[in-house]
Amino acid sequence: MAEDKITLIITRQDSPDSPSYQETYKINYRKNMNIISALMETQSNPYNADGERRPPVNWESNCLEEVCGACSMVINGEPRQACSTLVDKLEQPIHIAPMSTFPVVRDLVVDRSRMFDSLKKVKAWIPIDGTYDLGPGPRMPEKKRQWAYELSKCMTCGVCLEACPNVNSKSDFIGPAPLSQVRLFNAHPTGEMHKSERLNALMEDGGIQGCGNSQNCVQVCPKGIPLTTSIAALNRDTNIQSFKNFFGSDNNY
Ligand code: SF4
Ligand code: FES
Repeated sequence: MAEDKITLIITRQDSPDSPSYQETYKINYRKNMNIISALMETQSNPYNADGERRPPVNWESNCLEEVCGACSMVINGEPRQACSTLVDKLEQPIHIAPMSTFPVVRDLVVDRSRMFDSLKKVKAWIPIDGTYDLGPGPRMPEKKRQWAYELSKCMTCGVCLEACPNVNSKSDFIGPAPLSQVRLFNAHPTGEMHKSERLNALMEDGGIQGCGNSQNCVQVCPKGIPLTTSIAALNRDTNIQSFKNFFGSDNNY
């Protein structure tokens, strides 16, 4: 990059209920900067492009290696991870905004509870007692383990919900990530015991019928999770489950 300054146009919001506004910063360029390091420049030199001293920009980050999912934001119109987005690969000026699917807490910090509540709703875990040693659990065949590992990479970053046109404040659709986690936990030899409960949860309001098949989710997922394949498989599974419910046969199959 020839210039030694880069321009950030950040959508800010002082509190959950206050209006949003844009603030421009000119920051010093360094080679191999990512968006987190660019934002850190606004903290160490908290003056906007008009030379006014401003409260530091707020954002969340933790792992800095695209594992924790905390740093999701909309960068030049695309929902993605700030830690793995390199300044050199972006057009200038760089527009940075909070994800719009989730309520803003402050500046770029959003409340992703909606996604965590959905994971609770679909029981996205393996229930074990934990009060005594259960011994080794059933083993998964290696090929299936490798397949399951890909689904387990979800870091609940929320980027797929942000990209989905059917996840918004007017809809209770749980979105692609919790759906895919149902597929993961239903495939586990122990988790399978609660398969019917998870599928029945997906057949309730806000469940799988909310998917409009836009396929945006699979294109933006930073972990390359096959979300649309998961949703197609769950469509089949919920159809079978509804027949089982109708005929009153054993819920687990
Ligand atoms: S499925 Fe992908 S995009 Fe969606 S929350 Fe998980 S890691 Fe993020
Ligand atoms: S800081 Fe953890 S994913 Fe970016």
